[in-house]
Amino acid sequence: MMARVTTMALMEMKARGEKMTMLTAYDYPTASLLDEAGVDMLLVGDSLGNVVLGYEDTLPVTMDEMIHHTKAVARGTRRAMVVGDMPFLSYQTSLPEAVSNGGRFLKEGGAQAVKLEGGSERAGVVRSLVETGIPVMGHLGLTPQSVHQLGGFRVQGKDEAAARRLLQDALALEEAGVFALVLEAVPAQVAAQVTSRLQVPTIGIGAGPGCDGQVLVVHDMLGLSMRKTPKFVKQYVRLGDCIKDAVRAYQEDVKSGAFPGLEHCYAVPKNEQPSLSKI
Ligand code: KIV
Repeated sequence: MMARVTTMALMEMKARGEKMTMLTAYDYPTASLLDEAGVDMLLVGDSLGNVVLGYEDTLPVTMDEMIHHTKAVARGTRRAMVVGDMPFLSYQTSLPEAVSNGGRFLKEGGAQAVKLEGGSERAGVVRSLVETGIPVMGHLGLTPQSVHQLGGFRVQGKDEAAARRLLQDALALEEAGVFALVLEAVPAQVAAQVTSRLQVPTIGIGAGPGCDGQVLVVHDMLGLSMRKTPKFVKQYVRLGDCIKDAVRAYQEDVKSGAFPGLEHCYAVPKNEQPSLSKI
């Protein structure tokens, strides 16, 4: 059996200077493909809300929706670490609620870790989860659950004061026990400096090559996204166009009678000649 990627394995990769990969996944077939392709971590992101469920942003996503999709991803995964993203209001209201919701990702969802957004104000929650035995990934920079407070989806940590706050938050989260930290939409130079000050790996999204690993929303990098993709996305294929071409060809075939062909039909055995005319 293939060994599962662990928090320890990620620390060893950082020490060796080996970059780590993470992609979002929300369903069984995608998780199986990404896992077979060797991705180190699958994030069941709360981006589920805007990428798959058709919400405006991540705020409406519920614990039950996250658990439903985490279960499907876990069933498709053998090697990758599965990280469940704690949705808005699942960890901000009280420590017991945070622990009980975090625990659901492992107990019901089959994840190996959770991720949550925020800096030093979340250190207490991180500590409680880690003390309960729940590995936690932090998330700093552009934190989409705070989109209304941030005034939109903007690059963070751009000036000296903001960059200092980012580093202080990163150090506070590390001290509280996170095993890795996502840095989203942060200038490359700032992310590289934060990365060099931390023992734990940083996983960048729009944070440049100086991070220890990279994460992208899978629909963005496969060209399946319904939304305008941000500047930091590299699109490796345009699957959305492939799907539309295939569906148009199917429609033409059905309407012209070219599909189904003989090769798609079941035949009766040679010695049988069923006739239905007498019924
Ligand atoms: O929900 C998500 O997909 C994320 C990534 C963008 C890091 O948090």
